[in-house]
Amino acid sequence: MTDSITIALSKGRILDETLPLLKEAGIELVDDVKKSRKLVFPTTDPNVRVLILRATDVPTYVQYGGADLGVTGKDVLMEHGGDGLYEPLDLNISRCRLMTAGKKDTEAPEGRLRVATKFVNLARRYYSAQGRQADIIKLYGAMELAPILGLADEIVDIVDTGNTLKANGLEPRELIEHISSRLVVNRASMKMKHAGINPIIEKMSAAVEKRR
Ligand code: ATP
Ligand code: PRP
Ligand code: MG
Repeated sequence: MTDSITIALSKGRILDETLPLLKEAGIELVDDVKKSRKLVFPTTDPNVRVLILRATDVPTYVQYGGADLGVTGKDVLMEHGGDGLYEPLDLNISRCRLMTAGKKDTEAPEGRLRVATKFVNLARRYYSAQGRQADIIKLYGAMELAPILGLADEIVDIVDTGNTLKANGLEPRELIEHISSRLVVNRASMKMKHAGINPIIEKMSAAVEKRR
C-alpha cells in the first residue's frame, strides 16, 4: 500500500516560494490557495495532501504527527526547538537575517538589557551565551516600535533589506543567524513512511540544487 503523506506549509511569503519547488517535485495544489478558505488541500498526487498554516504552527503539527513533512523558517525552528523533528533540507528560500537592533547612533547600555522580541526562547539563549543579562519582553509584531517608545533597549528580529529598521530610526547591531526556510520531517514518519517521504525529499532537493 502507498503511504498517504500530509505536508504542512507556511502561509505568506514562504508559501509563494514553496509552491514552485513542490511543483518541480511533482506535487501541485489542485485549488488556488489564495482564493480558498480551505485549510487542507488535495494535490495532483492522490497520496499527498497539503495543510496551509501559520509558520509558527508548522513545527508543532509536524512534531505531533499532524503532518509528516513541513516547511518553515529556521528562525521559527530555532524558537520552537527540534524535538521530534528531522531537518533534512535547506530550501534556500525566504532568506533573511536574524539580528539584534537598537536606536540609531545609540550604544547598548552596560549591564542589564531590555530586549523586545517575538523570539523569546532564542533571544534568552543568545544573550545568555554572550554572558549578557537580558530581560526579554514578548511582542507579537511591530518590534521596531519598542526601542523608540522606550519599551526596550534592543530588539531581536528578522532583517532583510534593512528598510523597516531604517524607517523606524533603528540600526542593526549583531548578526545572530543567517535564516532560510527548511524542510522538516516527523521522526516517526521518517521511519514508518520512508517509501513515501524519501522520494519527496529527493525531488525537492533536486529542485533546490537546480536553482543554485
Ligand atoms: P504572521 O504574519 O502570521 O505573524 P510571520 O510574520 O512570521 O507571521 P511571514 O512574514 O510570512 O510571517 O514570515 C515567515 C518567515 O519568512 C519568517 O519566519 C522568516 O523565516 C521569513 N521572513 C520574514 N520576514 C522576511 C523578510 N522580510 N524577508 C525574507 N524572509 C523573511
Ligand atoms: C518582516 C520582519 C521585519 C521586516 C524586515 O516583516 O518582521 O519587520 O520584514 O524586512 P526588511 O529588512 O526588508 O525591511 P513583515 O514584512 O513580514 O511584516 P509583519 O510585521 O507583518 O510580519
Ligand atoms: Mg512577517
